[in-house]
Amino acid sequence: MAKTAKEKFKTYGNVFDNFAVRNLFELSSKGFFEEDSLSPISIGKEANVFSAKGKDGPVVLKIYRLETADFNRMYSYIRNDPRFLNLKNQRRKVIFAWVQREYRNLFRAREAKIRVPTPFVFMKNILIMEFIGKNQPALKLKDHIPKNKKKFYLKIKKYIRNFYKIGFVHGDLSEFNILNFDEEPVFIDLSHSTMIRQANSMELLERDVKNICRFFNKHNLKLDYKKELKEILS
Ligand SMILES: Nc1ncnc2c1ncn2[C@@H]1O[C@H](COP(=O)(O)OP(=O)(O)O)[C@@H](O)[C@H]1O
Ligand SMILES: [Mg+2]
Repeated sequence: MAKTAKEKFKTYGNVFDNFAVRNLFELSSKGFFEEDSLSPISIGKEANVFSAKGKDGPVVLKIYRLETADFNRMYSYIRNDPRFLNLKNQRRKVIFAWVQREYRNLFRAREAKIRVPTPFVFMKNILIMEFIGKNQPALKLKDHIPKNKKKFYLKIKKYIRNFYKIGFVHGDLSEFNILNFDEEPVFIDLSHSTMIRQANSMELLERDVKNICRFFNKHNLKLDYKKELKEILS
């Protein structure tokens, strides 16, 4: 007998709890992705990332685990965001807000002309966005060193500056959260991104710039992060 869509989601091992199964079922019923097409890309600390067939091409599903071990860290990061001020320390609410924030941040980044995955929809603990890659997902910067490092770096710097200019910082930028897609940087993982009017945003920006300079200096650029930061702020 043919399996129902819900049963199929359950057969992805222990990855999905009943809550995720219900939401995946709803999203696939609405046509956001084909139920048979899920394939794992990454198992992270807080979220599992899958590729799937969407209406108009491949999509990526980022599914936050409700039982995430790092919930306290997530709460400490989002509680100061002026957009989410009344958030109580409640596990589900914080995680849903976290997903919504990533979705909204992706939109803002697009407005600032930063190459990021286009966000399609979010629901509860699931975010669906554009798949970055050809047949395989694009590799992370750390695993795919650009041919022209200086040019690649300058594009990243421009993106950080663009985002700053509209009042945002990425907040978790490093060679792990930038994809190298055809020698072009694509920023991902914008769940930490926040507004510069938030109290600790300058520290986050400084850390982002430091991380990127450290990475490129390891690959023989000679960047002084303080100088780079100054130029970004100018
Ligand atoms: N839109 C995307 N297209 C292709 N690969 C992606 C996409 N989003 C995430 N990935 C892959 O999944 C990994 C984890 O995603 P990320 O958003 O960084 O979550 P986390 O670091 O919180 O686990 C990334 O390092 C990347 O390899
Ligand atoms: Mg990441």
